[in-house]
Amino acid sequence: MCGIIGAVGRGVETLDVLVHGLSKLEYRGYDSAGVALADESVDICKKAGEIDELRGALEGRSIDGSVGIGHTRWSTHGPPTDENAHPHQDCSSDVAVVHNGIIENYQELRDELAAAGHTFRSDTDTEVVPHLVEDALRGGADPEAAVRSAVGRLEGSYAVAVVIAGVDRIFAARNDSPLVLGIDDDAYYLASDVPAFRDHTDRVVYLDDGEFTVLGPDGWRVTTLAGEPVEKTVDTVDWDPEETGKSGYDHYMLKEIHEQPRSLRQSLSERVDELGGSVDIGELADLNPRGVQFVAAGTSYHAALYGAELFRQAGIPAQAFRSSEFATSPPPIGDALVIGVTQSGETADTLSALREAQRRGARTLGVTNVVGSTVARESDHVFYIRAGPEIGVAATKTFASQLASLNLLALGMTSTDGTREIISSLRDLPGQVQEVLDGSAAREVADTYAASDAYFFIGRGLNYPVALEGALKMKEITYKHAEGFAAGGLKHGPLALVTDQTPVFAVVTGDDELAQKTIGNVKEVEARDAPVIAVTDGKSDVERYADHVLRIPEAHPRTAAVLANVQLQLVSYHTASILGRSIDKPRNLAKSVTVE
Ligand code: F6R
Repeated sequence: MCGIIGAVGRGVETLDVLVHGLSKLEYRGYDSAGVALADESVDICKKAGEIDELRGALEGRSIDGSVGIGHTRWSTHGPPTDENAHPHQDCSSDVAVVHNGIIENYQELRDELAAAGHTFRSDTDTEVVPHLVEDALRGGADPEAAVRSAVGRLEGSYAVAVVIAGVDRIFAARNDSPLVLGIDDDAYYLASDVPAFRDHTDRVVYLDDGEFTVLGPDGWRVTTLAGEPVEKTVDTVDWDPEETGKSGYDHYMLKEIHEQPRSLRQSLSERVDELGGSVDIGELADLNPRGVQFVAAGTSYHAALYGAELFRQAGIPAQAFRSSEFATSPPPIGDALVIGVTQSGETADTLSALREAQRRGARTLGVTNVVGSTVARESDHVFYIRAGPEIGVAATKTFASQLASLNLLALGMTSTDGTREIISSLRDLPGQVQEVLDGSAAREVADTYAASDAYFFIGRGLNYPVALEGALKMKEITYKHAEGFAAGGLKHGPLALVTDQTPVFAVVTGDDELAQKTIGNVKEVEARDAPVIAVTDGKSDVERYADHVLRIPEAHPRTAAVLANVQLQLVSYHTASILGRSIDKPRNLAKSVTVE
């Protein structure tokens, strides 16, 4: 976790670039933030709390330098205090380091350094790095060699960036944590993610594990840690800086909910041929899986549950696993295709699961939003969901694009009954999402139930993952207790929790056997006086048993799940807004979870 930014170049307002970059990276962690600027000396300012605390601390301080690094933190070692905030320094205060990841051998290194006379100021694993650099400098190494040797001692995951007094360069390296360079005419940037410097340049270079980079006023180069030159390609990102702003919405989450018609169009664009009744997923159509195992975490796991059901409907055995469980106790994989679903492409649990699958000889496919992410690069195949950058910590538009993309993959890899009808429903989906956004009664529902202490969500079939996702969204941004259940599971225990104080959201679409059975479960909660909010297309008579209705357009069951989810996103959003929660940056959470 954590976000890193670095900048060097002619005429660059280094401090402004760093602080602005950190504000774009806050979704990666917001426990504390700090910057270091180097000239003849290294100046550091760092503060516990969100970036505004850092801005406050910088007011009235003259902190200057032509080369700078910055960091926003999500704690792994040590609580969020000023001392534990990055950058960290050596004894002489000539070296400053920012780091993302976990240094597994830090205790051993720290003991060794302490025995050699180094004193430490923080509880972090990171602080060993500046001391290792200092040691190597004292031993006569030049600055670049000193950083290489320090990084060479680290075990674990890291993206690390270093500045040194009197040196107009940034040194950086990565292993298991993302790092990307931004290339402008006279300036060079590095960051954990492109939005940090996208306002300055659209030209990027993605670093791979084991690579080391040096950025100076005259250019950049990449080598292996051992110093072998590495040829890198400069890519161009195709999204606009405006896409990472709030565009007039109060929160990124609301903006991203409203972006769904467009992001879904992007996900589907050039991939569905309505006239021909087919989808185009390129070479992936040849994968021909005899079985599929999905691995994913959080919201992406809910998408994976939905995806597994799509493959099963086409007669292919498929299961979804939480990636943390798969990584540590994998099931027999056989000749299944293992599909990692991950918005960020950096989730450590999902990476571990995919690596474990590869170790066992499985073919892997990464389904991700982030081009050049670690999952994209390490998987045997990749499918981009093309939702555009998502800044709000709570996943919204990426979930919708995951569901759309999993439909494309399932249709492209299998012979599914009713393909033409499904394709036509996918084509209708962006417009129908717009209808939901334009006419939702979610705000009224939120007003009615914002004071409740607990919420339940139920659904069956493809609406079961929607129920789980509705509950996850509600709990993460409102901090209220919320649980999603398979509707049929309610009577096996959870019903004991249902009272007139616990609103139950029932996702009932269509009027088939599943819908009728779910309505039976709705009656069970209604009999316990629970307020019922039906999310429905109006085909069944569930409204008779509901206190409120969140209406969605009539649609195929596959796309009805996406539409129902939009209603639940809006209810969570408005409830959190009424409660005054930190919607884009919920407590204790971060957008990209790069620790296991
Ligand atoms: C919830 C949320 C998380 C992520 C999870 C996996 O709104 O965003 O539950 O879904 O941390 O992240 P990715 O999809 O990046 O692997």
